Amino acid sequence: MLKGRSLIEPGNFSLEEMDGLFCLAEKLEKEETYLRDSCRGKLLATLFFEPSTRTRLSFEAAMQRLGGSCLGFADPGSSSASKGESLADTIRMAASYADAIVMRNPKEGAALLASRYSPVPVINAGDGGHHHPTQTLTDLLTIRRLRGNIENLTVGYCGDLKFGRTVHSLAKALSRYKNIKMLFISPEELVVPEYITRMLQKQNIEFTETRSLEEAMPHLDVLYMTRVQRERFFNEEDYIRLKDIYVLNKEKMDMGKNDLIILHPLPRVNEISVEVDADPRAAYFKQARYGMYVRMALLSSILGVV
Ligand code: NCD
Repeated sequence: MLKGRSLIEPGNFSLEEMDGLFCLAEKLEKEETYLRDSCRGKLLATLFFEPSTRTRLSFEAAMQRLGGSCLGFADPGSSSASKGESLADTIRMAASYADAIVMRNPKEGAALLASRYSPVPVINAGDGGHHHPTQTLTDLLTIRRLRGNIENLTVGYCGDLKFGRTVHSLAKALSRYKNIKMLFISPEELVVPEYITRMLQKQNIEFTETRSLEEAMPHLDVLYMTRVQRERFFNEEDYIRLKDIYVLNKEKMDMGKNDLIILHPLPRVNEISVEVDADPRAAYFKQARYGMYVRMALLSSILGVV
């Protein structure tokens, strides 16, 4: 039962609970009218202290497709946080108006803190470079829809693996599925954090760290591209030096398997050239749409209407 539960990081839900969400998302995708109006009268607070397009819009679309409404802010400058209000107070206030809260915040751990002050469920829509569990639900649903299951995969993550919270959440979640191998492709400065590699070692997950996308390409079933997270860099020179270090183009796609799946949480900057968009293996725009269905499944479950 997910009613009343918060989602702060992927480990909060069991595999069975995630499976339940994927089945529900697939039903919502097939039957446009299923659960329509089930959230009538319910309010979702969307508190975005950091920029967002897909995550915020897909939550709002999901809530409205269920018949509910949203309130909130997309720019912290327009909230009382800019007057010095504490996160705890902002959350208490939002919880007194809304039935659930979705929050994105630049500080690692902010979502966990919020959940401790909130009497209503809190969904983490990204806490700094830490986690982004609803992007992970989106990623897993996309793999499942395209392959039929989430097992026996070699998954490559490429780009900014240090600051990329979507990578941290996905690696953590995938480590719980059967026979998953991982390849972490990044420059030395942007390697995946040690707490992730330690977790994988503990679970005996086979993984390799490499600098070369070309070498990795032929081995992969899924390639998860990410942008270099400019906003988390301390200096612009480093960002400029590293930003175009990996660019997935047609030539590299030719080295990949025929049934390779290319994912990207988006926004893309330069790391996938637009010529790849026409390749049937490019799944990132489909992925964005699946994100809305899985968020509908999540909201209807935590609000207890299903
Ligand atoms: C990601 C994020 O915010 O972490 N975007 C998203 O939610 N789809 C990835 C990114 O910003 O690079």
